[in-house]
Amino acid sequence: MTNKLITLDTVYNSNIGSMEKIINCTLPVRYPHKFFQEVTSGSKDGNVYFSKLAYFNDVAVGTVKAKLIHNQKGGVLPQGVYIEVIAVLENYRQKGIGRELLAYIERECKSHFQHEILVHISVDNNNALQWYEKNGFQNDGIILKNYYQYSNAQISSDAYILKKYIP
Ligand SMILES: CC(C)(COP(=O)(O)OP(=O)(O)OC[C@H]1O[C@@H](n2cnc3c(N)ncnc32)[C@H](O)[C@@H]1OP(=O)(O)O)[C@@H](O)C(=O)NCCC(=O)NCCS
Repeated sequence: MTNKLITLDTVYNSNIGSMEKIINCTLPVRYPHKFFQEVTSGSKDGNVYFSKLAYFNDVAVGTVKAKLIHNQKGGVLPQGVYIEVIAVLENYRQKGIGRELLAYIERECKSHFQHEILVHISVDNNNALQWYEKNGFQNDGIILKNYYQYSNAQISSDAYILKKYIP
């Protein structure tokens, strides 16, 4: 059932600052402003991005950014939709907000005729690993060594890749 307190909105130039704050205060990686601007200007560089801001009672508390991975010969990632970041502010977790953001990505995956959603997760981000698995992602257990190039690492630089099949 849809929770009416939770709404998803498009990311515009006017609210992109909320997206940036949520990500940069939730994840251990500092993303540059350019990373966020891609969601409004992505079509200019030929990439297709999917992003939303999640509001709880009209307060921006969560966000997602994902990218369509085209079928490229020799590409690092298989074809599908790749979640770059997803985050919900700590005080607003366990209310179904992350699930709403993920459901949006699943709808975009289907409407672009893709069948897989992919995400990299640090091997010690147990919260996210458990959350993704609870929400239908499979982890084949293969560790990608030094996937993250952090300058001030708070978490391991090694990652798993998790995948969810979308029929
Ligand atoms: C991962 C994250 C986005 C989940 O957001 P959330 O809004 O708390 O998740 P939801 O409330 O929508 O959870 C959906 C379901 O997963 C369950 N769940 C929530 N957190 C969970 C956890 N840590 N482990 C297992 N299940 C979990 C919920 O109980 C709910 O289950 P239900 O469908 O049976 O009711 C949030 O914890 C977060 O922002 N983490 C920090 C950022 C991060 O690590 N992001 C991933 C890397 S980009």
